[in-house]
Amino acid sequence: MRITRRAQAEAVLSDPRYVPPPVRQDAGPGTLAWLRARVSRFSTGPAHAERRARVTGRLATVDPAELRPAARAMTLERGGDWRGVPTAVLGAALGVADTSAVAAAAAGYLSGEESPEADAAVARLLDQAGLPEITLLLQGHAATEALIENALRHAAPGDDVEARLRETLKDDPPLTLTRRLDTRTGDEVTIDLVAANRDPAGGDSPHLTFGHGLRPCPAPAHALALAAGVLDALLDPDLDPDRGHGQSDGWRP
Ligand code: HEM
Repeated sequence: MRITRRAQAEAVLSDPRYVPPPVRQDAGPGTLAWLRARVSRFSTGPAHAERRARVTGRLATVDPAELRPAARAMTLERGGDWRGVPTAVLGAALGVADTSAVAAAAAGYLSGEESPEADAAVARLLDQAGLPEITLLLQGHAATEALIENALRHAAPGDDVEARLRETLKDDPPLTLTRRLDTRTGDEVTIDLVAANRDPAGGDSPHLTFGHGLRPCPAPAHALALAAGVLDALLDPDLDPDRGHGQSDGWRP
């Protein structure tokens, strides 16, 4: 079943009888599948509550206000080459110095697609960080980069960065759907977040791009700060006279 109406999407996301589709629990230690069996995102009931509390507790030690200038500075240092910047900045704030393995691990994190590369990347991360830190880095990586990418498609130098991000989150979101299993019937339910955001019956209510109900994203402020910092650097018409100044396409990669 595919859900496109706003009210129905909110009801399913608030109902404990709908759970994330289960992930396999028998994987070898230190692999991607082993990690997926241990994170809040794919857990239910008390395990979810406990794991979510650990992750949000860790997140609470990171002030979003510090992420934005750090992301801006690193983007400028790298001459506008912003890929990996949000994750490196978040990693530094979480005490994870080397985030070069995050992209490879994140590639299979949501989909569950296993590969030797993803397993090796997870092993490298486990060498330097605990599960809460790794969960945060893997959850945030792809969505935050996709938010920046989508925002850049519609952006011009000098744009109001926050307004641009708000519009992108509603109209061209980095995450377009999420899935649940109906524990009564065993049916899989796909929640179309784009359609639900556009449902006229939703009125002026905020978008569902960061989720809703029992397990929403705990990090919208962090995600927005990281994306805004990168865009601050890329869309500042006064910076980088060689490439950006006065040109309508600015630093767009
Ligand atoms: C634009 C960027 C982001 C978007 C659109 C986004 C969106 C979401 C959504 C929709 C969910 C809920 C999924 C569901 O209910 O099925 C979620 C969960 C989560 N997000 Fe984000 N997210 C973003 C960035 C981040 C960042 C940067 C972090 C970490 C700092 C993060 C950490 C998490 C965690 C830990 C969960 C799992 C919560 C739980 O299991 O209870 N997200 N995110």
